Amino acid sequence: GVIRTYDFTVSRGAIAPDGYQRPVLLVNGAFPGPLIEANWGDKIIVNVHNNITGPEEGTAIHWHGFLQQGTPWEDGAPGVSQCPIAPAKSFTYEFVASLYGTTWYHAHYSAQYSGGLAGPIVIHGPTQAKYDVDIGPVMLSDWYHKAYLDIVKAMLAPNGSPKVFSDNNLINGKMNFDCATAAATGDKTPCTNNAGISKFKFQTGKTHRLRLINSGAEGVQRFSIDGHTLTVIANDFTPVKPYNTTVVTLGVGQRSDVLVTANAGTAKSAFWMRSNLTSCSSARQPNAVAAVYYDQADTNKAPTSSAWNVPDPGTCANDDLATTQPLFPMAVPAATYTRTMAVELFKNASAVTLWKFGGVSMRADYNQPVLLQANRGNLTFPPEWNVVNFYANTSVRVVVNNNSPASHPMHLHGHNFYVLHEGPGAWDGSSVVRPSNPQRRDVQLVRPNGHLVLQFDANPGVWGFHCHVAWHASGGFFSSFVVKPKEVQQMHIPLTVQQTCRDWSAWTSRNV
Ligand code: C2O
Repeated sequence: GVIRTYDFTVSRGAIAPDGYQRPVLLVNGAFPGPLIEANWGDKIIVNVHNNITGPEEGTAIHWHGFLQQGTPWEDGAPGVSQCPIAPAKSFTYEFVASLYGTTWYHAHYSAQYSGGLAGPIVIHGPTQAKYDVDIGPVMLSDWYHKAYLDIVKAMLAPNGSPKVFSDNNLINGKMNFDCATAAATGDKTPCTNNAGISKFKFQTGKTHRLRLINSGAEGVQRFSIDGHTLTVIANDFTPVKPYNTTVVTLGVGQRSDVLVTANAGTAKSAFWMRSNLTSCSSARQPNAVAAVYYDQADTNKAPTSSAWNVPDPGTCANDDLATTQPLFPMAVPAATYTRTMAVELFKNASAVTLWKFGGVSMRADYNQPVLLQANRGNLTFPPEWNVVNFYANTSVRVVVNNNSPASHPMHLHGHNFYVLHEGPGAWDGSSVVRPSNPQRRDVQLVRPNGHLVLQFDANPGVWGFHCHVAWHASGGFFSSFVVKPKEVQQMHIPLTVQQTCRDWSAWTSRNV
């Protein structure tokens, strides 16, 4: 493989992707952040400089979906794999593009990524899919007009609400907003109407590959293009047997690669691309649009196409596991251990509404990453860190019982897990969808009051397992899995990782 090097400077900014100006965090001044592109097996090196000032803040960047085999310390999860990168400090990530397809990077410090700190990653690899044009990433993100930290603080205040309502929905960082709705509430924030939407050019008669990424904070997206059938060829990093659909559902963190043939009109045709948040999302403006123009269409005119008539089923679930079949079959091995984890909302003694995951509401300790502790052989952790030790187990089954009225995109770091079963209510304790070849991915939705059964083959390290809704993770819906601690103890972790903790404690002690 080749080495691909990037330089990321993280800083504050004020931008108006939908016309409404708000404070954000940016990578090299851009939102969405710059594209990382590599071939399967390449080494990716990213020098991250924390230039966040006014006020200063820590950060860390996670490379979503990569396995980090033998390099769990490059995973970018503060409190798990490293300390935050202190203000004015840098950290160099080095990892192998272990899987291919579409993914993204995002800050993993508090809910920072919902404030703009995210960007796309494309890893080119072998493919059996036939297409002519790679359109590249199409990032779908619910969007908020308040700074992320203000949202988190309000949510975690006594009697605060765990429901956070998005103000808009963006496609590749663009959408229009009606400023009058903000002005009506007395809001004097600078705002421009008709900020503009994303525009895509299609070649008439040709087949295009779109790399859909839900990079939002909370909302479940339903993506479609008027008049066009979508052929799904990958879910997350897993190529699947192509299947056709008019609407693809993506929970936060999920990706779907789809093929679209421009055969729905003449060379002058134009169509709406749509992404609508499902009924189980909390949104003030759930509908994002972008424009698709064939070769000779007038790109100054809005499309006039009408939407597919596909009602939201209201299940808040991903595509049926029976249809999402990996192209390269892998049978699920016998589980050596099964762990059941319940999801619950509760109010603590100070009337703060929090999440419990597996009986514990996680409180992060950014000063003592679990991985560094485990590497030193210290496997006794404070209960509020919500660490689960899976010892030497080679294949672990996890049953998630969602006892809450919200859907949750469950994400496990460092693994491409098997999705054995999901559905409403409780699992029957034995049903597995296609055990000879279950869907594999790194995020899977669990429905409101439903269940999700997944299994992973042990990759030594310490890995976050959490709800990818930024607000839920901030509310304690997070756990850390210690996988094969004996191997973890043998690892030679670079001194630069220790250095993040020295820098972080020096900065925090200056700032108490
Ligand atoms: Cu995409 Cu723990 O994150």
